[in-house]
Amino acid sequence: MLSHAENELLTRVGPGTAMGALMRCYWLPALLSEEIPEPDCPPVRVRLLGEDLVAFRDSNGRIGLLGEHCAHRGTSLFFGRNVECGLRCVYHGWKFDVDGNVLETPAEPKGSDFHNKLRHTAYPCQEIAGMIFTYMGAPEKPPLMPRYEWAGLDAGQAYPVKSYLECNYLQGIEGDFDSSHTTFLHNNDIQNNQTLKRDGAPTLDAEDTNYGMRAISVRRLGAERIYVRTSPYIMPCFSIVPGPPTEKFDENDIRGFRFWVPIDDEHSWLYILNMRKQPFADQERAVLRSWIEPDYRRKRNLHNDYRIDRDLQRTRLYSGIEAVNPAEQDGCATETMGPICDRSQEHLGYSDKTIIALRKMLLNALRDLAQGKAPRHTIYHEAERDFSRLRSVKGILAVGTDWHKIFDGLGANDA
Ligand code: FES
Ligand SMILES: [Fe+2]
Repeated sequence: MLSHAENELLTRVGPGTAMGALMRCYWLPALLSEEIPEPDCPPVRVRLLGEDLVAFRDSNGRIGLLGEHCAHRGTSLFFGRNVECGLRCVYHGWKFDVDGNVLETPAEPKGSDFHNKLRHTAYPCQEIAGMIFTYMGAPEKPPLMPRYEWAGLDAGQAYPVKSYLECNYLQGIEGDFDSSHTTFLHNNDIQNNQTLKRDGAPTLDAEDTNYGMRAISVRRLGAERIYVRTSPYIMPCFSIVPGPPTEKFDENDIRGFRFWVPIDDEHSWLYILNMRKQPFADQERAVLRSWIEPDYRRKRNLHNDYRIDRDLQRTRLYSGIEAVNPAEQDGCATETMGPICDRSQEHLGYSDKTIIALRKMLLNALRDLAQGKAPRHTIYHEAERDFSRLRSVKGILAVGTDWHKIFDGLGANDA
């Protein structure tokens, strides 16, 4: 458990908060490319780290992420006219470019240079693998974006989706660093799932890494074999989780790189960047997003009790919640804790070992930042940028195998 003050420190992300400052040291997903698909398309609202913003793609295809409220008198730029390389406020026609320059103030007298003295909130953006990332920290020193596996994929090999989570980001990502819940919450065949049934109490470990941490779980499979999973936590709020157990590693397994991005203290986006060597077909993409509404809310959500089916809960599904994506079941576990879980009321046991380590690492990161140290995994040199081999790995091995030797070759950035 945490003290109330520690819980506040880890969960508050708005401007001026400690965690908000840490988050603002990194590039974060702001929206999907599909939300602003072409030049001069309608702008969209983006709320991120408690700030209200508007994203648009200008006539040249450049992406802008501006403060939502016009610098003149505050009208929402969501209603703006996205034409001729800028976003024009509908109230008095002020025109903004993607860098936050005020290009024109047409209601001012001819020859006025008023606009040259103004600058509007604008955050830099970059687009990779169908996602648009932004950096909201000190403009003098933007870090480099680490190059993860997906930076090198062809267009068809990556397919991002996002879904709305009605709780604080930390509840979401703690689930990815909590291996023991998978045996229960995600057991979708309670009669026959002998593999998972056998060891619901794995041996756990958490290791510090240069990108954050990694969680390790080892389950016994009978007398002779073990099932090992490793799950990276990537600063500040990203993760990779392995799929179900298989006998061998397969490049064509769908892997998910996950980003838990705070909208504000009580709402988050989960971005899942699906990746696979073999390009996704249209039909597969449709399945990958079939659990999400066009507005990115989950079909099974807090307001319909996740469509829990008590018959299925008795006969087949541990959770009673049918899921195309395990995130549908995770949503029930994390949202029903409340918008911001009160961690001073928890009763933590051995199975929470990795969560405890994670919270400690994050609290240390906040302390280091307050003392002026650059946070872990903020990258300023090209030579430190390559994280393309960072993976979540899993495998069934003989008892007594040194899994570090086998796995670390598959996740070389874990060194
Ligand atoms: S409020 Fe936007 S131009 Fe006046
Ligand atoms: Fe889960």
